[in-house]
Amino acid sequence: MSLDAIGAALLRRLDPETAHGLAIRGLSAGLVRARRLPPDPRLAARLGDLVLPNPLGMAAGFDKNAVAPDGLLALGFGFVEVGTLTPRPQPGNPRPRIFRLPEAGAVINRLGFNNDGHAAALARLEARRGRGGVVGVNVGANKDSTDRPADYVAGIRAFAAVASYFTVNVSSPNTPGLRDLQARDALDELLARALAARDDMVAAVGRRVPVLLKIAPDLTEAGLDDVADVSLARGVDGLIVSNTTLSRVGVSGPVAGEAGGLSGRPLFERSTVVLAKMRRRVGRALPIVGVGGIADGADAVAKIRAGADLVQGYTGFIYAGPAYAADVLAGLSAALDRDGLPSPAALRDLDLDRWADRPIPA
Ligand SMILES: Cc1cc2nc3c(=O)[nH]c(=O)nc-3n(C[C@H](O)[C@H](O)[C@H](O)COP(=O)(O)O)c2cc1C
Repeated sequence: MSLDAIGAALLRRLDPETAHGLAIRGLSAGLVRARRLPPDPRLAARLGDLVLPNPLGMAAGFDKNAVAPDGLLALGFGFVEVGTLTPRPQPGNPRPRIFRLPEAGAVINRLGFNNDGHAAALARLEARRGRGGVVGVNVGANKDSTDRPADYVAGIRAFAAVASYFTVNVSSPNTPGLRDLQARDALDELLARALAARDDMVAAVGRRVPVLLKIAPDLTEAGLDDVADVSLARGVDGLIVSNTTLSRVGVSGPVAGEAGGLSGRPLFERSTVVLAKMRRRVGRALPIVGVGGIADGADAVAKIRAGADLVQGYTGFIYAGPAYAADVLAGLSAALDRDGLPSPAALRDLDLDRWADRPIPA
């Protein structure tokens, strides 16, 4: 067992939130390291005007407050998404609110957008300015907001100068009513306002910051139609598929009954089916970030073959520890070697039909 694996195993003996706090502090202090692979230039990827060293990102929710993006980039992630950030700080739901299901390689969380708010995270991102690395900012709405779209607009205005890209997160299951923003008319209004705010900031920040939309894996086929139509009509710069699920397929036992969003291995099938269905709807050009249940390189390859340009992981990192990014990327490089391919883009959509034809699991 490597030192990394021992560290990860020790953290897993602690209560999940205590372990998470320690991991963030260690990463922020530069104490958490991993075996560094020589970068594989074949893995370089693009997102709008951004050039990424590789297509694997740390998904939102791990570093909600932008405390440790550089520590995460140093582990080999090609990009890091901080947040979800809301305008005002908020405590989230009462603890306990994160539950591990180790046999299933899964987690259930009902954090409820606990975060330090815009100002604190902005100060941290301003302090790291000039260090490079792709750091996206995931924005959301306060639980007690009376104008939720205004909260997203405030996020885009606040972070425009420091965000490599934005994610409009309408898919957390833990803020009551948030997912209703995925409905056609609500989404249309939200994206109109969010994209207008981004456009307003172009002159001030000197670039058109890409805006991605992050969706739930619990939409129906008709719901996917709505999201695809509105996203294309409004001109989002990409989709992130997906957030956690309310389904409990693939998990059992007392913890499975906890309220919240399920992530990790049991989410892989559902999130990949929805990803492929969205790829089919939006065409070949729109970037899609595939997330949900990526535990190793083979899973990342499968997401790309189903239609993803980029991928992200969170729960896999909880179980694998600091070597996660290096291991996933090594698997991706090995897949290119095996098939003699020049880049992961050559894998994209190879299994699109196989995934998109499946029903969304019950
Ligand atoms: C503890 C926890 C907190 C999360 N918080 C957020 C969040 O604040 N915003 C968000 O967009 N997604 C959040 N997510 C969802 C992840 O970004 C990701 O979409 C989901 O976990 C599926 O990926 P995974 O199976 O690799 O974990 C969270 C996930 C977990 C496990």
